[in-house]
Amino acid sequence: AEPALIDAHGRAIRYLRISVTDRCDLRCRYCMAETMTFLPRRALLALEEIAVIAERFVARGVTKIRLSGGEPLVRRDVGELIRRIGRLVGDGLDELTLTTNGTRLADHAATLVDAGVRRVNVSLDTRDPDRFRYITRHGDVHQVLAGIRAAQAAGLRVKINAVALRGLNDAELPDLLQWCVDEGLDLSLIETMPLGAIDEDRVDRFLPLTVAMESLQRRFALVRDTHRTGGPARYWRVEGSDTRLGLISPLTANFCDGCNRVRLTTEGKLYLCLGHDDQVDLKHALREGGLPALDAAIDQGLARKPARHDFQITAGASPAVARHMSVTGG
Ligand code: GTP
Ligand code: 5AD
Ligand code: SF4
Repeated sequence: AEPALIDAHGRAIRYLRISVTDRCDLRCRYCMAETMTFLPRRALLALEEIAVIAERFVARGVTKIRLSGGEPLVRRDVGELIRRIGRLVGDGLDELTLTTNGTRLADHAATLVDAGVRRVNVSLDTRDPDRFRYITRHGDVHQVLAGIRAAQAAGLRVKINAVALRGLNDAELPDLLQWCVDEGLDLSLIETMPLGAIDEDRVDRFLPLTVAMESLQRRFALVRDTHRTGGPARYWRVEGSDTRLGLISPLTANFCDGCNRVRLTTEGKLYLCLGHDDQVDLKHALREGGLPALDAAIDQGLARKPARHDFQITAGASPAVARHMSVTGG
């Protein structure tokens, strides 16, 4: 068998997140600045290279791959990539999935299902059209809602990802959960994390999920659920429904001890932690030395994987890392 992926802290790596593009058709305020510089296209891994790296990770024990971005569905050849990686499903890979902003989901839902994708996570911080436009700067919420419906109609289970934002969507969160119950969706709430420069101070918008939960528990009977996906969320179930509520609380309930993931960027860099800058250049290794060099670079990276992030949200603080979430795909 291939040498397994175990880091220096004894954690087995089974989850590879692949950012297939750093570009996005939205400009969510907590994620990006209004004007962003994206990578030149020549810097990107070819689809074939992404597939080779993905295959190598699966051969070495990765059982879950998530495509993200930026917005993964804005990459031109993403359908081909999904089909290619989808061939690994059932052959080492248990799950191929996607995190998307949903704007182009209606066009891709059938491709996803054909490739073996069974569920997707769709970012939707609010259902209010004006508020959605404000948060995303460019978005039309109806397009995303249509994407979600198309995904469900194609047979995908859909989880809504909502970043909890003080003064923006906090009062709406109980209604958002009720809508998820009514529509047969899951919901994960996310604490905002300090990645990359944005045009505002994150402290103004930071909402601890401990606070969000107080208002949710006033309205819903929530019971703890042992369900795990291999991701960072801890789940609750809305009693009397199929809806699971996930909490992703990097600031108020650190989950790094159980970390099982690494991130491949669109430039072919392997980031070892969302909250650190350290990375290894897999593109260079693969191009210069083929699979043996790729394996060696992966091993070097794993040996350096940090124990945990040290995110903090404090007034006026500079972000923990300079790169944006859209570079490493969250
Ligand atoms: P599931 O497979 O459905 O559990 O999804 P996931 O939570 O693994 O992935 P998703 O792309 O939906 O990510 C939801 C949020 O979790 C995003 O804001 C990610 O940035 C965040 N997240 C995922 N992995 C990590 C991690 O290792 N550390 C931190 N701090 N946040 C993470
Ligand atoms: N903090 C927390 N979540 C973020 N996302 C993007 N930027 C941030 C941030 N700074 C979310 C998106 C998407 C997921 C991949 O990460 O809304 O749902
Ligand atoms: Fe785009 Fe997602 Fe960032 Fe919003 S959070 S700007 S949808 S990458």
